Amino acid sequence: MLKPIDPARVPQRLLNTGDKMPGIGMGTFGSDRFSHDDVAAAVEGAARLGYRLFDCASCYGNEDLIGQSFKRIMDSGIKREELFIQSKVWNDKHKEVIESCKKSLKDLQLDYLDLYFVHWPFPNYHAPGCDGDARNPDSKPYSHEEFMETWYQMEKLVEMGLVRNIGTSNVTIPKMKDFLPDCKIKPAANEMELHPSFQQPELFNYCLEQGIQPIGFCPIGSPTRPDRDKDPNDVVDIQMPELVEIAKAHNVHPAVICLKWAVQRGQTPIPFSIYENEYESNLRCTVEDPLTDEEMKIMASLDRNCRFIKGQVFLWEGAKGWEDLWDIDGTITK
Ligand SMILES: NC(=O)c1ccc[n+]([C@@H]2O[C@H](COP(=O)([O-])OP(=O)(O)OC[C@H]3O[C@@H](n4cnc5c(N)ncnc54)[C@H](OP(=O)(O)O)[C@@H]3O)[C@@H](O)[C@H]2O)c1
Repeated sequence: MLKPIDPARVPQRLLNTGDKMPGIGMGTFGSDRFSHDDVAAAVEGAARLGYRLFDCASCYGNEDLIGQSFKRIMDSGIKREELFIQSKVWNDKHKEVIESCKKSLKDLQLDYLDLYFVHWPFPNYHAPGCDGDARNPDSKPYSHEEFMETWYQMEKLVEMGLVRNIGTSNVTIPKMKDFLPDCKIKPAANEMELHPSFQQPELFNYCLEQGIQPIGFCPIGSPTRPDRDKDPNDVVDIQMPELVEIAKAHNVHPAVICLKWAVQRGQTPIPFSIYENEYESNLRCTVEDPLTDEEMKIMASLDRNCRFIKGQVFLWEGAKGWEDLWDIDGTITK
């Protein structure tokens, strides 16, 4: 049996609301490859090992089973306030945020969430597990008015005491500049794709300047992501030669180096794995044997601007390509 890691030793982040969150958590998107039962079992095993942050979402389709795991975790003596649980409103519920949050709370068997995200900044919906070429004719570009309508419901959740912190996900600097001035409650965190070959330095630094904690998804380069999100030109982070060299020097799997780098850089990675040996090393690596300054510099040089989660299924009629979702030229693409 693997030795638990004291959660008090895990680095913490201070949010702009004064709340603290763990500097690493566990992802719960089982991709198209892992069963909901396996993900829920991993959540329970991870809590036993010392994980306290769990990244959930209604669209992952497994919150009811994860809720049963949370119940068992708390029955075992871990208190609710020791956990940091986040979830997200899916694109088809932007007009029913409060109902959607209540459903997540019921499924997760919780009275409140520590952090609740708007999963994508537009209401474009696609069926779970759909093909990469699928398009919804109702899809439309980002709209300030629609986003604010959704955000005001997020703020209401805080007033209602159902949510402690609110956040954004999959947004860009132009979109943030568009909505931040109108927020009564600023996002406490922004969940964004972050891994060695996709470091998003501008957005990462912008979030820090705004006091918004970056949460990094696909932190290992998501080797098990759905096929619809794979492109033959994609970099395989855990095979980058410099990264493999650093892993050899520390005698660990390259995945672990991605996470050490992420935590030391200041983002909060949320790696996924259902395998105990993997998620154990993913947590343990944050409390021992840090990367040197020289290694951190090498890691910084590995950015290849290689985005995996392009979001092409959310494109609207008339959009040119997935780049339109990411405001590449510095203005919001309409
Ligand atoms: N906000 C959003 O829109 C958004 C989008 C995507 C993801 N997310 C969140 O981010 C989480 C993580 O992203 P992800 O699952 O796509 O990618 P990831 O964490 O980068 O990659 C997960 C895969 O990495 C491998 N792995 C994990 N630990 C390892 C270790 N110690 N050694 C070797 N291999 C290891 C596992 O593959 P093997 O099973 O092959 O070992 C695992 O399936 C998701 O679960 C979800 O919660 C959010």
